[in-house]
Amino acid sequence: KYDKQIFSGIQPTSIPHLGNYFGAIKQWVDMQNSLSKDQDTRPMIISIVDLHAITLPKDPRILNDYIYKCAATLVSCGIDPERNILYQQSQVAYHGQLSWILGCKVTMPQLGRMHQFKFKSDGLAEVPLGLYTYPVLQAADILLYRATHVPVGEDQLQHLELCRTIADKFNNTYSTNYFPSPIPLQGEFTRLKSLRDPSKKMSKSDADSNSRIELVDPPEIIEKKIKKAVTDSERLISYKPDKRPGLSTLIDLECAVTGQLPEEVAERCMLQAIDKSEYKKHVSKLLIEHLAPIQAKYKKLINDKKLLDDILDDGAKKANKIAEKNFHDICKIIGS
Ligand code: ADP
Ligand code: NA
Repeated sequence: KYDKQIFSGIQPTSIPHLGNYFGAIKQWVDMQNSLSKDQDTRPMIISIVDLHAITLPKDPRILNDYIYKCAATLVSCGIDPERNILYQQSQVAYHGQLSWILGCKVTMPQLGRMHQFKFKSDGLAEVPLGLYTYPVLQAADILLYRATHVPVGEDQLQHLELCRTIADKFNNTYSTNYFPSPIPLQGEFTRLKSLRDPSKKMSKSDADSNSRIELVDPPEIIEKKIKKAVTDSERLISYKPDKRPGLSTLIDLECAVTGQLPEEVAERCMLQAIDKSEYKKHVSKLLIEHLAPIQAKYKKLINDKKLLDDILDDGAKKANKIAEKNFHDICKIIGS
């Protein structure tokens, strides 16, 4: 009934890190490559969600800089702006407009139950309304394009569930089946943990940048961050995510690059009696080699603002075309 439409978003709050890469971007690239053979699928839509990024205070110059850096990183990782729709959320005004309409279909207790809201508002003296209504804007991002599939990590499953509830509520209220019920696409990839505190996930929003490896970190920074990565007092290597979460994260990194199983890696290290400091050097080297081609493309792109502007303008044009038509239909449905 609905054409397959994939929608993904990424916040320009920092440069994407290895968690974003292996957990999201790499899967988008794989999807893009399999999609081109799939006739019934519309181009994948990838949104740099700058309006989500300002739910907590952001310096305008830094935000602007990260929008470009995010776009350049995505393209360097293999996202083809010709085959997909890669654009900046704020350049399509219908996101905000649809968000208002959908906000009328959700209750305050429904929003108050969101883990991300509880986590991010915890301890704030003043809680911005945008932090609270974040999932409504996210639902608008998805439903504006009538997306059917949303690649998300487990951290976003609750928001996607709310998006489905909102879509159902809208459809029931207006006796329509206009909005599909978008389903999550979850990769089987192990979520990477923070290098400084393996009880947390590797995240852009972590204040300590040593907790993550950014895709454009130079070799010496990668070495430094891996060297500083928190492990434990055991000397040799074993894979025990519960007992040895820090060390296991380093093994997860190796596996993410090479596609090996963590148990295989641990066994090989045991046989060769490799100790932690040798193992850290090995992981650094793998990461540096793996990121080199991405970084070479990135270096060229980031210095070509004109090209990046053209890419984002073109994406916004394509996104606006779909959004305008859909928003017009939605207004008709609600009687506006
Ligand atoms: P962040 O928490 O770093 O700001 P985003 O919220 O912008 O990340 O998420 C962008 C994408 O990257 C999402 O699909 C998310 O699930 C994925 N992602 C974020 N952190 C990790 C991680 N540590 N491991 C695997 N995937 C991750
Ligand atoms: Na996040």
